[in-house]
Amino acid sequence: MIKLGVNIDHIATLRNARGIGYPNIIDAALVAEENGADFITVHLREDRRHINDKDVLLLKKKIKTKLNLEIAVSEEMLMYALQIKPYSVCFVPENREERTTEGGLDVVNKFNILSSYVKQLHTENIKVSLFINPQSNDIVCAHELGSYAIEIHTGAYSLIKQDHCHSNEYLEILHASKYAKSLGLVVNAGHGLDYDNVVPIAEINEISELNIGFSIVAKSVFEGLPQAVSKMKKLIIGV
Ligand code: PXP
Repeated sequence: MIKLGVNIDHIATLRNARGIGYPNIIDAALVAEENGADFITVHLREDRRHINDKDVLLLKKKIKTKLNLEIAVSEEMLMYALQIKPYSVCFVPENREERTTEGGLDVVNKFNILSSYVKQLHTENIKVSLFINPQSNDIVCAHELGSYAIEIHTGAYSLIKQDHCHSNEYLEILHASKYAKSLGLVVNAGHGLDYDNVVPIAEINEISELNIGFSIVAKSVFEGLPQAVSKMKKLIIGV
């Protein structure tokens, strides 16, 4: 059954707006878990604009499910991940000026550095995923790098407003998922997924896990975090 990774970065964005410690990140993670999250996902950005080092450390200790840590391809982040030992690490591209992660990793140009990082993390039994666009050359690279998983960037798909299943963006994700799975990669997906666009993606049999953050946190403003998480979980598992 498809799994839900709840990304709680934007609970930290809200907390940091006042800098007085709430809403509490650990409480949010525990509520997400109680309501259907199979993983807790956080992105430790180089500028620490939302999640910080202490959050990651505490989450690793306190959550009951598994921690999926998103990081940039940098020596500092690699060292941090090797020290914290999350269940999984997802390498993502990162630019300081961006509002959120724009596009997938340039796996072709970063092949050598990624090759070294993937090996070091796998030696510590940390599963590695690469956040990539739904393109076959990137999938081939991820496979050659020995990555455990890929996470397909669904950002372009998420901008489609209607007829999702017939869009080129959807078909690209569908074909990429099948191809990556045929090579033996675990296939995850995420970015920009919401309550209106998630179902066609969740119905792709080859996809194991979805990482969803912003839409869940936004819905929780009106409906509460428990309802926002459980509604998303029900949508993706189709009940
Ligand atoms: N997956 C990855 C690799 C991401 O970088 C992000 C955004 O941090 C997400 C999933 C979640 O995206 P969103 O917040 O738009 O649901």
